[in-house]
Amino acid sequence: MQSTKTGLVTVTMNPAIDLACTVPGFAAGAVNRVAEYRSDAAGKGVNIAGLLRKFGLPVTVTGFLGTENARIFEKRFSDLGVTDAFVRVPGETRIGIKVLDPESRSTTDINFPGLTPDASHLDRLTETVARLSREAAVVVVAGSLPVGVAPEEVGRLIGVIKAQGARAVVDTSGPALASAVRAAPWLIKPNDDELAELVGRPTGDLDDLVAEARRMNAEGIATVAVSLGARGAVFVEDGQALLSRPPKVEAVSTVGAGDAMIGGLVAGMALGLPLEERVRLATALAAATVMQAGPAIKDLNAAKVLEARIEITNLQKGG
Ligand SMILES: Nc1ncnc2c1ncn2[C@@H]1O[C@H](COP(=O)(O)OP(=O)(O)OP(=O)(O)O)[C@@H](O)[C@H]1O
Ligand SMILES: [Mg+2]
Repeated sequence: MQSTKTGLVTVTMNPAIDLACTVPGFAAGAVNRVAEYRSDAAGKGVNIAGLLRKFGLPVTVTGFLGTENARIFEKRFSDLGVTDAFVRVPGETRIGIKVLDPESRSTTDINFPGLTPDASHLDRLTETVARLSREAAVVVVAGSLPVGVAPEEVGRLIGVIKAQGARAVVDTSGPALASAVRAAPWLIKPNDDELAELVGRPTGDLDDLVAEARRMNAEGIATVAVSLGARGAVFVEDGQALLSRPPKVEAVSTVGAGDAMIGGLVAGMALGLPLEERVRLATALAAATVMQAGPAIKDLNAAKVLEARIEITNLQKGG
């Protein structure tokens, strides 16, 4: 059944400002000088929205944003051409500082506390998601939760999205992922660690992984993708099970690989592609993302050239 709704929405409840600075010879307890730095408005849903825009698809972004440092996000939203429906919360969106020392080849992380949305902010987000879901084909809920937001809220949001006739996609981990799975979203993409936590044991070979994915299909999750880092990913949907393997590429930064894979799956759905083509597109986009610094590829060509080198194997028995 093809949905006639075309809008795409991403929900980022816990975005962050990533501040990366290079400090040669960084030392604790001393005065350190920054040689160069960059700050980026980050968050899984924001990254996914950026990728979807490269396909020219219409995207609205929502979630929670602090009033005190919203400008960097507002600029990114306007650069990307996405509609800003973020709920503003008093205070500052969390900042994550990465201190890179080229001399010791070390990275030091300093993570600020984030926003603490209250019940009224959560209500406003629920209303926003309900309103946007009415016109949306797909709503993606991605990333971690801010302090004070219970994991069950993710499952509740999935319920709201489904009730308005949109397809829910979830990328989170731990209890929030477990809550989402109980609400049976349309697509999930755990990595192997997240899947192990979800099923309560380390998964074994590919057959075992496919069996777990099929169990989730039976519970109402249409597409279960399990990503395996450089080994690629397994996609289980509608009686089909495909293993997709990227070519060996030079990994510059794996930041955003999972986001690119989800962006590719959602774009492929929006473009009406069959499973195998969606899988090829998603795997190529993820590999292209890994080959360069930062979570966003410059253009789709980088992925296009990799598509022919993606190896897709049918894991289905007797088929
Ligand atoms: N070194 C690599 N070479 C090629 N492709 C890669 C590499 N690492 C990751 N990928 C691609 O990116 C996909 C997602 O990566 P991964 O399994 O690490 O997701 P993740 O742990 O959810 O990542 P994230 O940190 O973005 O949440 C993989 O399934 C694979 O297709
Ligand atoms: Mg991930």
